[in-house]
Amino acid sequence: MSATISAIGIYVPDTKIDNSYFEKILDTNDTWIRQRTGIINRYFAKEDEFTSDLCIKAVKNLIENNDADVSNVDFIIVATSTPDYTMPSVASQVQASFNISKAGCMDISAACAGFVYGIILAKGLIASGANKKVLIIGAETLSKVINLEDRTSCILFGDGAGAVIVEASAENHIFQSITETEGILGQNLYLSNLPAAINGQKITGDNKIHQNGRAVFKWAVSTLVEKIRELSELNERKLDKVDWLIPHSANLRILEAVCETLDFPIEKCLESIRNYGNTSAASIPIAWFNGLKSGKVKPDDIIIFAGFGGGLTSASICIQN
Ligand code: ACO
Repeated sequence: MSATISAIGIYVPDTKIDNSYFEKILDTNDTWIRQRTGIINRYFAKEDEFTSDLCIKAVKNLIENNDADVSNVDFIIVATSTPDYTMPSVASQVQASFNISKAGCMDISAACAGFVYGIILAKGLIASGANKKVLIIGAETLSKVINLEDRTSCILFGDGAGAVIVEASAENHIFQSITETEGILGQNLYLSNLPAAINGQKITGDNKIHQNGRAVFKWAVSTLVEKIRELSELNERKLDKVDWLIPHSANLRILEAVCETLDFPIEKCLESIRNYGNTSAASIPIAWFNGLKSGKVKPDDIIIFAGFGGGLTSASICIQN
């Protein structure tokens, strides 16, 4: 069975945090943050606002924008590294909030690649004939797990959510995908509340994000370049036939380096890093939604989504708008 992405909505919390917020509490400045990351603003959730709240508001936005019906959704996937709790799943909270009967529900943990993993899973569920309409949400409240004493990482992250519906369709708009993981590099990016070990290396169980920025940066650029090339070959579409590239927005310099190496025009690369920071699983749908809203992305445009993050893992897929 063929599938298409039929609706999209997003939500970001009300509180806008510009770089001066960090200037007041850390040895950093607006110039460094803009030059090294591209980030101007990000949004932080309120103390009593959690990932499920952001998911529910993104779904409400999806319903309003597309006049969509979610009552007949038969599977809900939430991609997040910051669930309200380990169980029940955030997806179950969304199901309850919209009273969607008979929906399978699960959360997936694939960090900033989670939204793309969600699309790939939804396509598979529909292709198997098991499901017809899948709601996928990439959502994070990373502000709750940043370490405000670590200036190299806390300035990067923001909160947000993006929701899409993937449904069975006569014409296929979701093409080939590639997933790959280098678990051996896992200790370079982690978030844990247990003092466990990754690859034999003891980690801090403080429920804060820990990141080896330089190592992740290097891995991200080479992985994105390799996977985008592989994906365009797999889909038999030369990169000059791709209308938009939407990689995970982790750092503007990563996107610039990837576009330069691929000889892909940076104007055709959509990002959400400048105005939202790194929103992990939400960054790709936020960039896509804004591209649609501004009128840049047109019906039938060919788009490559390329997610990468903690794992270290990557997932890329080619779709038609
Ligand atoms: N303000 C001022 N100076 C700073 C700051 C700051 N906020 N942070 C670091 N510096 C300093 C460092 O101390 C260092 O100083 P030194 O030269 O005197 O030692 C200098 O700036 C350079 O530090 P680097 O760490 O080399 O800076 P870099 O250019 O690598 O930028 C960054 C750091 C922004 C973290 C970058 O490495 C990055 O974006 N990495 C990738 C992040 C990523 O892709 N994450 C994956 C996805 S996230 C997920 O999955 C949840």
